[in-house]
Amino acid sequence: MVIREASFLVSNTQVALCPPPNRPEYAFIGRSNVGKSSLINMLTSRSGLAKTSSTPGKTQVINHFNINDEWYLVDLPGYGYAKVSKTSRAEWGKMINAYLTKRENLTCVCVLLDSRHAPQAADLEFMTKLGEDGVPFVMIFTKTDKQSTSQTKNLINNYLAKMGETWDELPRYFITSAETGLGREEVLGFITEINRQVAADAAGA
Ligand code: GTP
Ligand code: MG
Repeated sequence: MVIREASFLVSNTQVALCPPPNRPEYAFIGRSNVGKSSLINMLTSRSGLAKTSSTPGKTQVINHFNINDEWYLVDLPGYGYAKVSKTSRAEWGKMINAYLTKRENLTCVCVLLDSRHAPQAADLEFMTKLGEDGVPFVMIFTKTDKQSTSQTKNLINNYLAKMGETWDELPRYFITSAETGLGREEVLGFITEINRQVAADAAGA
């Protein structure tokens, strides 16, 4: 996929105020510092498109980006912040839950996972919830340039084994680095493929 257009559209806290649900939508989420902004910038080849928050956990908004006037990329506030108050966490939960269950054009959630870490409870719980809600998702392992290929392989195999304890079918996964661009073609190719399916389904409906 060639990214001809990538621009910020709107930030808000309510599903009702999101852009018209007339295009496929891909939402990116993960723990703070997992590399979300960097991945979005790498995928779009726009280094300043998604800004790094100087106060992690404070940004509690749903950010929509227009890609090629064809699909929406959504940057969601992350979970698992240690310093966030109970009230903010509850608000985050409510907003994210509403978005995930009510956003009718939500096509796929991309769950970012730091490739250097063993499975974390917050990530596993989040993916379990997606499964329960019937929300399609893929896993994107980040920051692989920070270790050797064999270390990444081992950690991902462990991750998949852990997922296999609770999931009959493992979600699709991608191995990426915002630093080297690894995985860019694969992730964009996946989105292209799904967008085609969505268009074919709409034409056939
Ligand atoms: P918050 O918005 O604060 O939740 O963080 P984020 O998930 O958007 O992470 P961000 O992209 O800001 O990256 C966090 C840190 O990790 C930054 O210092 C990035 O430069 C670094 N980083 C992100 N992705 C990569 C990567 O693929 N390789 C390397 N080496 N560093 C990365
Ligand atoms: Mg960020």
